[in-house]
Amino acid sequence: MKGIILAGGHGTRLHPITLGISKQLLPVYDKPMIYYPLSVLMLAGIVDIEIISTPRDLPAFRQLLGDGSSLGLSLTYAEQPEPRGLADAFLVSEKHIGGDSVMLILGDNVFHGPGFSATLQRAASRVEGCVLFGYPVHDPDRYGVAEVDEDGVLVGLQEKPASPRSNLAITGLYAYDNEVVEIARSLQPSARGELEITDVNRAYLARGSAELVLLGRGFVWLDTGTHESLIEAGQYVEILERRQGVRIACIEEIALHMGYIDQDTCHRLGRRLAKSPYGQYVMDVAAAS
Ligand code: DAU
Repeated sequence: MKGIILAGGHGTRLHPITLGISKQLLPVYDKPMIYYPLSVLMLAGIVDIEIISTPRDLPAFRQLLGDGSSLGLSLTYAEQPEPRGLADAFLVSEKHIGGDSVMLILGDNVFHGPGFSATLQRAASRVEGCVLFGYPVHDPDRYGVAEVDEDGVLVGLQEKPASPRSNLAITGLYAYDNEVVEIARSLQPSARGELEITDVNRAYLARGSAELVLLGRGFVWLDTGTHESLIEAGQYVEILERRQGVRIACIEEIALHMGYIDQDTCHRLGRRLAKSPYGQYVMDVAAAS
């Protein structure tokens, strides 16, 4: 399975912060935002990942993550000059996807919760159709919304409905078989001029091959789209990390844990950052393994 991180857009809701830097490079407490979605794909077992962003911002992502080889990954970069919609990612990354299945994650989504790796790996091993992840929220009208029957089976999808039929938001994490490229190609732009991911998901639903996985109580899915939610996400990470002494979305630790790199490499990666507590943590993780 291939991975895509969609990290473009103009970040207008965070202006003026994002006038000079990509939103997905802003800090969420102790690390750049993109570390969080990158961690999710790594935990799913995906090593071949394309990062999509604007021509302005791509050089900074390259500077941060390079070709990924130090983490045992293969990272490539692709330009999306204008935010033409989430489903445009499959057209921009068509070559990268090739004949494979693909997991797409939005570069500004933060996920954290028990058993998430197993959930991700199950979704990644599914070869047909699509897997969507639902999460109960108090303001579903801001998101794609899932309608489910009494058995919890997905029966409908709406994009930012004025009267949501449930409180289940569709999160910014999606797994698809290879059909997704054809489906994306057949889409027409919506009234807001974008290729809508919800239209892709509806196409799968119409074929009877869309599965909804519920991320329930005890799971955290955070938004980083406004000044308030960005700071809250940072506070959540800070509280958890300080209390437990572990780090969320430490890409070096995950690479070691997944067997993408060995202990020596992990230690070396930590040493490069040794003046920061993050680098110290990476060295400690390597030493303890
Ligand atoms: O976060 C989950 C939600 O993401 C879903 O529930 C919705 O169904 C889905 O449409 C999307 O809604 P948003 O309103 O959050 O999408 P937004 O246009 O804000 O884009 C999400 C991120 O993706 C944002 O950080 C910018 C980036 N982006 C967006 C578009 C449209 C791109 O990189 N390229 C794009 O073309």
